Amino acid sequence: DYRADTLSVFVIGASGDLAKKKTYPSLFALFAFHYLPEDFLIVGYARSAKSDDHFRDAIRPYLKHPHSELVDQFLSHCYYRHGSSYSDEQAIETMSKQIAIMEKSTQKTVNRLFYFAIPPVAFVPAAATLKKKAVGHTGWSRFIVEKPFGSDIKSFEKLNNDMSAVLEEQEMFRIDHYIGKEAVQNLLVMRFANTTFEPLWNNKYIDSVIISFKEDFGTKGRGGYFDKNGMIRDVVQNHIMQIVTMFAMEPPARPTGDYIRDEKVKVLQAIPAIRKDDCITGQYISDDERREPGYTEDEGVPDDSKTETGAAMVMYINNSRWEGVPFILRAGKALNESKSEIRVQFKKSPGSSLMFGAVDSEDGYGTGQEAVERNELVIRLKPDEAIYLKMNIKAPGLSGDPVVSELDLTYKSRFPDQFSKLPDAYTRLILQVLRGDAATFVRHDELREAWRIFTPLLHSIGRGEIEPIKYKAFSRGPKEWDELCAKHGFVYGGAS
Ligand code: BG6
Repeated sequence: DYRADTLSVFVIGASGDLAKKKTYPSLFALFAFHYLPEDFLIVGYARSAKSDDHFRDAIRPYLKHPHSELVDQFLSHCYYRHGSSYSDEQAIETMSKQIAIMEKSTQKTVNRLFYFAIPPVAFVPAAATLKKKAVGHTGWSRFIVEKPFGSDIKSFEKLNNDMSAVLEEQEMFRIDHYIGKEAVQNLLVMRFANTTFEPLWNNKYIDSVIISFKEDFGTKGRGGYFDKNGMIRDVVQNHIMQIVTMFAMEPPARPTGDYIRDEKVKVLQAIPAIRKDDCITGQYISDDERREPGYTEDEGVPDDSKTETGAAMVMYINNSRWEGVPFILRAGKALNESKSEIRVQFKKSPGSSLMFGAVDSEDGYGTGQEAVERNELVIRLKPDEAIYLKMNIKAPGLSGDPVVSELDLTYKSRFPDQFSKLPDAYTRLILQVLRGDAATFVRHDELREAWRIFTPLLHSIGRGEIEPIKYKAFSRGPKEWDELCAKHGFVYGGAS
């Protein structure tokens, strides 16, 4: 158990947004839930000079707990060091030696975790320097690396080769926080532990699947960074594809490590590269009240940018389970709401329209006109995790007509105690690294396949061949997105 050892966590890129908003709060949550060892140190490393106290003051506002003494206790384990770059050998060696003195005093095995919250150009030099000057000698050393892992298949291969020359695959934990979301982790149990779902989870019973990611805010001044990437790189190629693979994979032999990752890779291998005709990109403009400036008004975004702030596309998984089932992916910034969900539309129950639909006035038999809605299973990832199944029931009361209602498992009301304490995805994932379980991290072959699927499309967009359709901020996005869904058989149904 790693909790019997000493742990030092080095946050490389200590002052960045990600570190402040996600890394420290998650480490603090692990501390508050008693998942950190008794002897632990958090060491921030970045380029600006700062004292330990200054560093503690900078992260304190991001740590929330009703008992403020817990925050103080946590902060007393936090230190800060700086160097001229993320690969400053001398600064890193000095930091390592200073921390080693504190670690040694515990007389326990020492594990070191390096969390990279730095730009990808710094990954390889930082990893090489840390490997040379700062890895522990008695316990394990693990590295958590954040996206982007390349911007197309070629740049991915280069980064991957360079990283593998420095770090072993089992030392590297490529994080995609969508895997750590409660609802994504639940897919494994929901699918494989329920007789009511697993037999239906295929092209015999499922008509279409929509996975959507919506945010009700724009690029918020990050436009300069975002413009080089676009929504497909930012969210679809990584986060949404993680949902696709967890949703569609075959049962792994065991619910752990490479058993899961092997199955996820097989799903990706069965997906042909997206054709540009199968994707509609969009870009938001200001809303009428100008609450949100248009994308190209963001500083750092060129006026003629064709970068997509949203996209809808269809893909197919060409294997025996999914052949012919459209998977529609929709993602956009500055839309009418913030929500991520999976919608599974089942095929119509055979005979139901004949039985319940309009009756021919002459012979008294059903005309087969659509009378009942198909079942739809909705899995909501955020906000407010929920699973609900739209089903047909007899209208309560004297009527015999079918109406749509819901079997509803909204976590907030079903698990009120646990809901308020659901861990952030980062908290779950950092814990998995401490436990040494790589199942919830992205393996190199997963990434390679995901880049293969999107590279031709991204190159077309990059060459300016795909004109994004403008949509107003806070709208549903271009109407063409809804049309694409409808074209592939998706029916917008009743409630919710
Ligand atoms: C990040 C993207 O990876 O995921 C952001 O870079 C996006 O643009 C974020 O906002 C979404 O994460 P979540 O957990 O808020 O859905």
